[in-house]
Amino acid sequence: MEAQIESLRSEALDAISTAATPQELDAARVKYMGRSGAIPLLSEGMRTVAKEDKARVGKALNALRSDVTAALENREQALAQAADEAALSQVDTSLPGISPLRGSVHPLTQLLDRAVRIFRRMGFALAEGPDIETEWHCFDALNTPAHHPARNEQDTFYLPDGRLLRTHTSTVQIRTMENQPPPVRVIAPGAAYRRDEVDATHLAQFTQMEGLYVAPGVSLADLKGTLEFFFHELFGEGTAVRFRPHFFPFTEPSFEIDIQTAALGGKWMELAGCGMVDPAVFQAICDQRKDTVYDPEKVSGFAFGFGLDRLAMNLTGIPDIRMLVENDLRFLKQF
Ligand code: PHE
Repeated sequence: MEAQIESLRSEALDAISTAATPQELDAARVKYMGRSGAIPLLSEGMRTVAKEDKARVGKALNALRSDVTAALENREQALAQAADEAALSQVDTSLPGISPLRGSVHPLTQLLDRAVRIFRRMGFALAEGPDIETEWHCFDALNTPAHHPARNEQDTFYLPDGRLLRTHTSTVQIRTMENQPPPVRVIAPGAAYRRDEVDATHLAQFTQMEGLYVAPGVSLADLKGTLEFFFHELFGEGTAVRFRPHFFPFTEPSFEIDIQTAALGGKWMELAGCGMVDPAVFQAICDQRKDTVYDPEKVSGFAFGFGLDRLAMNLTGIPDIRMLVENDLRFLKQF
């Protein structure tokens, strides 16, 4: 038996070391180690070995098994490595590679990020809402009655089911107050839609940033202080900020904000709308919530909103608003 073990060992190791492909190696594995291979078959002979020899022969058999297993593993690795080397020898690693295109942050996103950062420092949280809205969130709750021109189909995209594409992100202010009690201090950046004829200064979709602060005792002074700070941070200390009386259905009093800054060429530019939240808006929220936490006798607030697209254009000298959405790499790479 021991002589058989030794001859099987040299036969198996020889077959393994000369296997030239994974297939040949597999064949050797089956032949010697497979369920009815030579080594298991030989092991069956243990039954006939004399009692006093069993330990010695068993040990020799175990050694055979582990030597053959190790040889199989080594050969497998050697074959895999040889295959890798053969594959790599076809590749000329000295050829120049294809470098991936480097992206850049869209000018609109850059401006939006800056604006959000400034408001966050003042404790404003980001709020979100859907682009497809109900008339209630877009108009009724904002004290904008059915006969208001903004509700006209000429101005607003309506869906067949009566919903619409929001014309401003003031809808998010309504949703925020519906869902949480005061105090609220949120900014709502996002897309807004109006049926504008598309040209160099108009798109049917634009990007807005609106904000809302509601708490007991919020005053016009808070509104002015917050927005003046914001515009100074955005455009620099020398920026002049002017509040001009205006009308919005959802604020009273209402203002338009003009800015004069070197960053925008030194000319006065109308930039934003704002005002103190109209009591009728708070009343609509109370009716909807069926509670009185937004009772206009108890809380007050200010709201503001502005478009980012034209601002980004003026800050960076982009001549045509359509460039912002054309995704032309030659344009985008410049920022
Ligand atoms: N919603 C107004 C607009 O889209 C902007 C605005 C917001 C004005 C809040 C006043 C207060 O033009």
